[in-house]
Parts: sequence; C-alpha cells; structure tokens
Amino acid sequence: MENKKDYGKIRREYLGAPLDLDQLHSDPIVQFQAWFEDALNAAVIEPNAMSLATVDDRGMPDVRIVLFKGLSKGKITFFTNYNSKKALEMKQNSGIALVFFWAELARQVRVRGKVSQLSRAESDEYFQSRPRYSQIAAWASAQSKVLADRKELEDNFAFYLKKIGEDAPVPTPEDWGGYVLDATEWEFWQGRENRMHDRFRYSLQENDQFTIERLNP
Ligand SMILES: Cc1cc2nc3c(=O)[nH]c(=O)nc-3n(C[C@H](O)[C@H](O)[C@H](O)COP(=O)(O)O)c2cc1C
Repeated sequence: MENKKDYGKIRREYLGAPLDLDQLHSDPIVQFQAWFEDALNAAVIEPNAMSLATVDDRGMPDVRIVLFKGLSKGKITFFTNYNSKKALEMKQNSGIALVFFWAELARQVRVRGKVSQLSRAESDEYFQSRPRYSQIAAWASAQSKVLADRKELEDNFAFYLKKIGEDAPVPTPEDWGGYVLDATEWEFWQGRENRMHDRFRYSLQENDQFTIERLNP
C-alpha cells in the first residue's frame, strides 16, 4: 500500500552566513581544515563521516560512508579492508569522489581525485591506535563477503581473540589499510536563504595551482 505521508513536503531553510571569494583560502586543504574545525566547534555529529563513491568494472557507481582519518602530507586519508568491494573497485579505477555533509552548518564539501594505498607504516600506525576489539574485528571480518549467519562472524571474532591472545599486540591484517586521496577538484557549498546558496569550485591546473570559480547553486 502506498504511504500517504507526503515526504516531499519536508523542507528546511538553509540560513548560512554569506560565503565570498575573499573569505576562501587559496589552498583547498587549508579551507577544508578551517571548515572541519568549524564542524568540530559546532558539535556536528560525526563530522568525520564522508560518503565515498567508486565505480565498478561495468561503470556502475557505488557509494558508502567511511570515516575521514586525518591528513597525510596534506591529503585526505581513510581506512578499510583491501579485499572489500570498494577496494576492488578502487584497484580497477582509482578515481573516487567524497562528500561531507554538515547539516548543522548547512555545508557540503565535495572532493574528487585519484586514490592510492597508504604506506604500510602509516596503516600500522593508525591500526595500532584502534581499540583492541576493533582490531580483532578487522581480523574477523572478510569485509563485503557473504556470511551464512551472524554466528559465523562471532565465531571468527572468538577464533582470532583466542589465536592472538588477550594481551598480545594485534598485528595489522595484510588485507587491511589506508588510502590517500590526490585531490584535483574540491567544492565548498554553503546553504543560504531561499535556495540561493554559495558554491565555489577549486580545480587543479597544470601549474599545480588551484583556480577558484563561483558556481550557480
Ligand atoms: C558512520 C559509518 C562509518 C563507517 N566507517 C567505515 C570506515 O571507516 N571504513 C570502512 O571500511 N567501512 C566503514 N563503514 C562501513 C561502510 O559504509 C561499508 O558498509 C563497508 O565498508 C563495506 O563497503 P563495500 O562493500 O562497498 O566495500 C562505515 C559506515 C558508517 C555508517
């Protein structure tokens, strides 16, 4: 039966402060850091959650949330399983897109570029900072593969907990690690009244400098 509620009527005004060219930093990563700090200060829930879009070998897009885990040499990083669906897609096509949405600030940041794997040392460093049971979970989960039932996953967790032991350090699984994004395009969107939003796109040029253009909302 069709739902009688009119979801189309859900409507919110975006009342962000004006954003102009002279407020933007010429380096998009500096601009991103400033907005990320704003999101932290505004106590946005999970400001580090970003949607990661990849494309499969038939040209079909795929998207899911992963967590932004800081910058490596000024580039965005995130972590995942190297045999997951997304990892296989990034192996075939290193082009990805990311999007952050900070509802409380009526802000969106879009980023595009090519990814590569982080060094093992950097992946190890982050893996070692994770809570122990999250580390065990990384061993237990063959991410994106089909499970017979929940018990199979829990049995895997118990298996690795016993194998590694309660106290020994947990090594980084071979098939787990980080990615770093070489961003060539950024877009900063500030929601404004009456859908008259401010949008700025940074595009990397051949001289390694970014140009900034205002876009129609
Ligand atoms: C808030 C949130 C944070 C997540 N963070 C991560 C992450 O950092 N790394 C990751 O591999 N999956 C993360 N996930 C799970 C992914 O969205 C996804 O389900 C999983 O990585 C498998 O995706 P794939 O089959 O396309 O590879 C997160 C999900 C949510 C909702």
